[in-house]
Formats: sequence, C-alpha cells, structure tokens
Amino acid sequence: MIKESNGKLGILLPGMGAVASTLIAGVYAVNKGISKPIGSVSQMGNIRLGKRTEDRNPLIKDFVPLAKLTDVVFGGWDIFEDNIYEAAVNAQVLDLPLLEQIRPEMEAIKPMRAVFDKTYVKKLDGTFFKKADTKMDLAEMVMEDIRNFKEKNNCERLVMVWCGSTEIYIQEGDIHSSIEKLEEGLRNNHPDIPPSMIYAYAAVKMGVPYANGAPNLSCDVKAMVELSKQTKTPIAGKDFKTGQTLMKTILAPGLKARSLGIKGWFSTNILGNRDGEVLDDPDNFKSKEVSKLGVLENILQPEQNPDLYKDLYHKVRINYYPPHGDNKEGWDNIDIFGWLGYGMQIKIDFLCRDSILAAPVALDLALFLDLAKRAELFGIQEWLSFYLKSPQTAEGLPPQHDIFLQQQKMLNTLRHIMGEELITHLGMDYYY
Ligand SMILES: NC(=O)c1ccc[n+]([C@@H]2O[C@H](COP(=O)([O-])OP(=O)(O)OC[C@H]3O[C@@H](n4cnc5c(N)ncnc54)[C@H](O)[C@@H]3O)[C@@H](O)[C@H]2O)c1
Repeated sequence: MIKESNGKLGILLPGMGAVASTLIAGVYAVNKGISKPIGSVSQMGNIRLGKRTEDRNPLIKDFVPLAKLTDVVFGGWDIFEDNIYEAAVNAQVLDLPLLEQIRPEMEAIKPMRAVFDKTYVKKLDGTFFKKADTKMDLAEMVMEDIRNFKEKNNCERLVMVWCGSTEIYIQEGDIHSSIEKLEEGLRNNHPDIPPSMIYAYAAVKMGVPYANGAPNLSCDVKAMVELSKQTKTPIAGKDFKTGQTLMKTILAPGLKARSLGIKGWFSTNILGNRDGEVLDDPDNFKSKEVSKLGVLENILQPEQNPDLYKDLYHKVRINYYPPHGDNKEGWDNIDIFGWLGYGMQIKIDFLCRDSILAAPVALDLALFLDLAKRAELFGIQEWLSFYLKSPQTAEGLPPQHDIFLQQQKMLNTLRHIMGEELITHLGMDYYY
C-alpha cells in the first residue's frame, strides 16, 4: 500500500544555478497557469493499462499518487548568495517577461550556505560556504539545515536532487567501501569525499531520498548504497540524460534493431553556460566523459555483434564557447554501414537548450523518488535509469541505456506499484 501524498513536499537542491532556477521557475509558472510542464513525463505522459482494447490510458499523475505541483516547496544551497530570481536572470535561460510574472516567489528563495571546496571544482570562486574542522561536522550542519527547512516550511516529506557543478573525477576506492569507512573518512577529512558526497550522506542518513544529476560519484558508491538500505531510502544517479546522450539512446537502439553496422560516432558540443565553463577543466570533464562514453557500448554490445560493432570508434568532446550560453549545440557524425558493407552517414545538429531539457528530468526524479519512498522502495531505483546518462545499478550489474527498455521498466514499475498487470508485449493473444 502506498502512503498518500498529504501535505507539502520539500525539494532540496544543492546547487542553485541554471537547472535549479529553470526547474523552480517552471513549477511556479505551471502553478500560475502561465505554462504547461512540457517534457515532464510524470505530468504530461500517459500510461497504458490492461489490453489495448480496454482503452485505458490515464495520465501518469492521475494513475500514481504523486505530490501535486502546488504542494511542492523549494530550498537549496549554493556558494553564491543570489536569490533564485537573480540566479535565473544570470543563467539567461528564461525570458525576463516570464520571470517578472513569478518574481516575488522566486526572490523569496534564498540559498543556504554551501558545503564547498575549490579542490573539486577549480573554476568556481564562490564565498558563501560553511566552515568546519571536519567533513563530518559539515554533514551534520547540512542535516541541521534540512531539519530547519522542514520545520520552517511545514513539509511532510523531503527529497534532495544534486544540481551542483560537476566535480573532478574520483574513482570509487576503499574509503567508499562500507558505511564505517566512509564515516571514518568524514571524520578524518579524506580527500576522496567531495562535497556532493557530504550532502548525499546527510540526506540518506536522515532517510531523505537522493538523486544525483551530475556525473560525480556522490551516492554511487558501496557505502552510500548500504546506508540507503539501512535507512530505507530510495536513491538514483547519475547525470541527467538530456541533449546529446538522449539522442544517442534514442537512435542507437533503432539502428541496432535493424542490424545496421556502426563504424564511428563522433560527438562534439559547444556551450557557454557556467556548466560549460566548469567542464572546460580536464579533471571535471573527465567525470562527464566517463559518464557519456559507456552508453553506446552498452546498447550495441559489440561482443555479441562483432560484424556490426567491433570497430566502433566513439569520441565525445565538450567545448566551452561563451556566445552560445545555455543554448548548447551538439553535433554528431555517425558512420554507419548497410547491406554488403556499403557506408552511409548520419549528421545531427541539435540546437538544444540544456536547462530546458534538464528541468523536467530533475522534477520527475524528485516526484518519483518521493513516490518510491511512500511505496517503501529503497536502495538504487534502477527504474529511474530512464532519466540518467550513467545509471547506477546494483554491484556487478551492467546499466541499461536503451531508452525504450528503460521506459518499459519505468512504466512496468508504476503498474506494479499500483497492482496493475505488467505489459510485456509477449502475450499470446492478438491485442498487442
Ligand atoms: N543542463 C543539462 O542539460 C545537464 C545535463 C546533465 C547534467 N547536468 C549537470 O547538472 C549540474 C547543474 O547544471 P547547471 O547547468 O545548472 O550548472 P550551473 O553551473 O548553472 O549551476 C550549478 C550551481 O552549483 C553551484 N555549486 C557548485 N558546487 C556547489 C556545492 N558544493 N554546493 C552548492 N552549490 C554548488 C554553483 O555555484 C552553481 O550555481 C551540472 O553538474 C551539470 O553537469 C546538466
């Protein structure tokens, strides 16, 4: 039985930049009837139930008891003191006439003092952060912030979604291998515990569901998975699946489904927002590169299809180009081959808007993690891989990147939660 969504849901965002301000502005604009929540599957997507002939296709939000957008309140942390209206103006994602209509609500949201260390994001120079002797002290200060936020805003429940900058690449190591070691590391200021992991620890320790929108490890280590089971907390990560990777996971399964070969896939991006500036540093880019590269290999499985994919050359670049701002341009050159090995090319030039694609993903992750908690699901929520570029999975299990399989898994999980028959498309009748 799922507990109903009564009262307010607090969505806590460490990192209140472009994605966070676009998300918050969007929810206010929707609640005021100014816009529609386009791109949010939880709000605008349908789910088929039963046989096709039954014609039951409710909206997902009418099928599962999600928190209503009017019951959502926002809070978060940043290293810059700007309120969220100012953050949205600086991000230059949304037009000023739109922001003016929701200005008072936006101005009322001010970030809390962050947990920050420049070692992990070299290109940022904020000053609004906490000071303490140990990382454990910082985690406790975040827990105190969470308790205060909940009380002040009269929230029934909370979730946290990391929308902070991408931190430098760190590999999972011994310090992340158990709760005891991680806690010891927090007390001893171990260098392999970045700020994102401190927030994640604080949230999961308190039973607050946590999603990671960036490619840094954060909750994707053994100790955090253990902690999420101990505190019965759902978690999901990592890295919002938006522009180029979204396209890749839509296109690659289709080419593979038709047994077309792929020789090369060169992806390059130019973007000029703060995210792009942070990713201009090679250590921060490395986190993103690792998160982006696994996708094709997993979908195409060259070991099973050597004739089609064994020579695949996959390259991903991101270049900081200020004039483009948040309007990222992603080019893909794909060298494919068909019947008798004859070559062809596909060129994609995706003129996208980074935060416009990411905001609904962050919203859905928050709403579905809150649902998962009320449905008593905990640990890694693999059914939310649909939204993630580098989905977190149980140890030893490869992630699933094909967006259509991810979608089926997500919808079937929702059907399962609500006691509806699963749809496998394997029925022996002719209704499919
Ligand atoms: N926009 C997309 O399409 C997309 C897709 C996938 C992942 N992401 C990731 O989402 C994250 C947010 O993207 P964005 O475009 O909003 O970036 P942004 O630079 O506009 O915002 C990030 C914010 O995080 C703050 N920050 C950095 N370290 C912090 C810390 N330790 N504590 C609190 N705040 C901190 C920065 O000051 C900044 O305001 C990035 O990591 C990005 O890689 C974005």
